[in-house]
Amino acid sequence: MNLISLKSELIEGNIVCPGDKSISQRILILGWLLNKNITISGFLNADDPISTANALNQISNSIKINGNEVIIEERIIEPKNPENPIDLGNSGTGMRLIFGLISGLGLEATLIGDDSLSKRPMRRVADPLKEMGASNKLNIGGTPPIEISKGKIIDDFVYEMPVASAQVKSSIILAAIAAKKGITVIENNLTRNHTERMIEYFKGNIEISPIWWNNSDSKYMWDEFKTPNTFMGNKITYKHKELTCPEHYEVVGDFSSASFLIVAGLISKSGKLKIKNVGLNPSRSLLIKILQSMGGQITISNERKISNEEVGDLNVSPSKLKGFDHLNFSSEVRPEDIIPNIIDEIPILSIAAAFAEGSTILNGLEELTIKESNRLAAICDGFDAIGINYFSDRKSSIKLYGNYNEDIDGAEIDSHGDHRIAMSFLVAGMRSKNGIKVIDCKNIETSFPNFTNIMNSLGMKINEED
Ligand code: S3P
Repeated sequence: MNLISLKSELIEGNIVCPGDKSISQRILILGWLLNKNITISGFLNADDPISTANALNQISNSIKINGNEVIIEERIIEPKNPENPIDLGNSGTGMRLIFGLISGLGLEATLIGDDSLSKRPMRRVADPLKEMGASNKLNIGGTPPIEISKGKIIDDFVYEMPVASAQVKSSIILAAIAAKKGITVIENNLTRNHTERMIEYFKGNIEISPIWWNNSDSKYMWDEFKTPNTFMGNKITYKHKELTCPEHYEVVGDFSSASFLIVAGLISKSGKLKIKNVGLNPSRSLLIKILQSMGGQITISNERKISNEEVGDLNVSPSKLKGFDHLNFSSEVRPEDIIPNIIDEIPILSIAAAFAEGSTILNGLEELTIKESNRLAAICDGFDAIGINYFSDRKSSIKLYGNYNEDIDGAEIDSHGDHRIAMSFLVAGMRSKNGIKVIDCKNIETSFPNFTNIMNSLGMKINEED
């Protein structure tokens, strides 16, 4: 399915943010695992959470989805090895989290995915799971299919994360919970903490303590440059204790979906946008500060907490944006924590920068190249097509030159089958003279099924094209 986004100047209206994908997938898995009756509202009814629900129902059927409401019923039958391979579609989160769960349960299964997921690295999860006592085999090259055979998880496994990945962290924590064992994860770079927040909400025995640099451990000459109170990351310790499953769980809005609305509002020429019920967990929402530092007029109101997650309403107005050479939040956020926090928002941030005054530099983007597509290369290809100047090694960094005063000509873009690339360039289309046509937009269904309707209800002009 191809879409074309035509020039539009106005973004105006009130919108409720669609449910969070990461949280929807996690509550399905934890809710299913705890095997108690639970209802879920605000659920993101999109392809990725649906493939996660189907995966769980293949092991033991207890999840029923009705729009944005979910019912998980207590089962009498024990989980069993699935008869057929479990298909996680396009979802890296679904595959890595279900990998951990099945390993922890000591079941046998084969996990498969679509063309994009079949190219994604799974060793980052397979290796620590093996160290924990699980047994698995990957395709040559460390990609799916994943064959999980029966293993036995050890107690109090300690793992220091070599990559900044919430999926890896969550996978091994879920394996420990499923096996009724303890685990300690050392996380040097902070990643989204929805799994930890949910365990806390379920009154689990989890402790998150900061790690401070201690000079007496100094091994290298350059360690002397660190002061004793340098923050080195978090130590997450989970000890087995039955979790208390609430009768109801409310999923907050997805900040990553909101980011497309926010940038559309900022680069529009007129109007006022309110996005209600946006998840504002600090490990996810740094983009707001970045866009504000670029001159974006974004205010937050009605701040509150739902299901142990911060939530608020965002008010967005058209803004004159400025590019940046480096992101610096001094004591608030360490430089190494910035990219993991905004990893899913980089495509749309690069669109905001493309309509800003001056140049923008983004570094440390290695993880961006192994998402649903090589997103850095996809951004570069898109910029080639719409005439935004940039330099990029296509491996880890990009310097791009904003086009604040002028609209772009318009062009045809390949989404590379990637939902966030498709939505980012559709948003850019509102500032094009002749429209941006995006080829292959089907995967918008994985995270934001109502994207076109919502955008058009606010003033954008997105239509289907052959
Ligand atoms: C996610 C974590 C991130 C993110 C993905 C969702 C999650 O991936 O990019 O869209 O739900 O845990 P990594 O953990 O690989 O960084």
